[in-house]
Amino acid sequence: MPIEVQNLIGGVRAGAASGRTLERRNPADRNDVVSIAPLSGAEEVDKAVRAAAEAFKTWRLVPAPKRGLMIAEAGRRLAERKEELARLMTREMGKPIAEARGDVQEAIDTAWLVAAEGRRLNGDTAPCELPDKVGMSFRKPVGVCGMITPWNFPVAIPSWKIFPALVCGNTVVLKPSEHTPACAAEFVRALVEAGIPEGVVNFVCGAGEEAGAALVKHPLVRAISFTGSTETGKIIGETCGRMNKKLSLEMGGKNAQVVMEDADLELALEGALWGAFGTTGQRCTATSRLILHRAIADEFIARLRDRAAKLRIGSGLDGTMHVGPLVDEAQRNRVHEYVQIGKAEGAVLALGGDFARGPGLDAGWFYKPTVFTGVRREMRIAREEIFGPVIACIVVDSFEEAVSVLNDTEYGLSSSLYTRDVTRAFRAMRDFEAGITYINGPTIGAEVQLPFGGVKGTGNGHREAGSQVYEFYTDWQSVYVDFSGRLQRAQID
Ligand code: UN1
Repeated sequence: MPIEVQNLIGGVRAGAASGRTLERRNPADRNDVVSIAPLSGAEEVDKAVRAAAEAFKTWRLVPAPKRGLMIAEAGRRLAERKEELARLMTREMGKPIAEARGDVQEAIDTAWLVAAEGRRLNGDTAPCELPDKVGMSFRKPVGVCGMITPWNFPVAIPSWKIFPALVCGNTVVLKPSEHTPACAAEFVRALVEAGIPEGVVNFVCGAGEEAGAALVKHPLVRAISFTGSTETGKIIGETCGRMNKKLSLEMGGKNAQVVMEDADLELALEGALWGAFGTTGQRCTATSRLILHRAIADEFIARLRDRAAKLRIGSGLDGTMHVGPLVDEAQRNRVHEYVQIGKAEGAVLALGGDFARGPGLDAGWFYKPTVFTGVRREMRIAREEIFGPVIACIVVDSFEEAVSVLNDTEYGLSSSLYTRDVTRAFRAMRDFEAGITYINGPTIGAEVQLPFGGVKGTGNGHREAGSQVYEFYTDWQSVYVDFSGRLQRAQID
């Protein structure tokens, strides 16, 4: 039986006013209908935003340590339900079960981290230039925050946004991806069961062009946090710019792993396989370029082909599979189109490049791990985000050239260097233009206690996670208390 997902608006569960719904099928088996969710529009979004605005009046006054305790309780509930939620996630969006468990774990980790912030949210105290006067600053909640979240981390990414927003005293309207409404509903359920009052977290399912756009445009929404495509992010950015809203964007990547001639090749190989083909390449942080020093390139590519060809492709619910399906037919077609583009550009298809077919595969959107060699930096497959199991190998003659190729992209999310040379490691930390850099590790696998986000075309300067995320979910208020009993004029007396 498919799960019937409902919106949650001001504590009331309901479908879309129009009665319209959207069906979500398992990408590994299109005969398996996983969920049916409301296809909501501006009307439901308006109700949800109004409920959030009303709830903000009281939620902002709940002591932050208490808000933190509720988040800890939501984390505990997610931990209790980790396995069940992971299985639902694998059915709904396809990633292998071990990775789905990791996704839920990342939300649990975020809950522990954020819960404690309820006892900090520190401001500054400062001396004042006049006698009998003190200065201090406070973090204040922003108000109603709209969250638009993707399907590739359907529990972790909502947690990165919603937990910090709540601990700061904001209220929330979540519009999840159309591909993962059931996962998002389960995440929201954990919050409701943890005691978050009605109206503080609202949940509206629908299409980006309708529900998402209505949320971005709503005048009572003070901040929008979006993770998704660069194309959509730019549209959201225009509206938020015009309406003077706070906006946090986390968009595309074209992440590279550099392997130098002095690297531990086996380690670098394992990193490349995990970074490129984990989550079927559908992470913003996925490795989509491999920059290889000429001295080891041929050997490395031969070993990569050999190992990638042995990766097991199949339903993520079977714990022995390494590579699950792509999220839907459109995404598989898009990946396949990029493969045609790569061939036409003159890159050499060294492995894969086609749908994966056979027993257990024909009812899903599977694609073979794909390796392109002979790639030059100006090719589209070296520049555009593919979001699939495709890696482009580029050969370089020096570390300097590797840095130059790595930086030669409009994006700047994740980056990686494999080397045994400590000088190169520190040069990479200094010179890689990326929000995240790994030394001797793949481009994926960020932990929540450090800021997550990118430079250049990847974002707009904000960060999620770490201690930096609170900059987005609070406004600063500076307070001066004058206890001199007389008018004191700053800069004059
Ligand atoms: C994403 O790529 O969309 O760093 C999020 C990682 C995960 C989060 C990825 N912790 O790979």
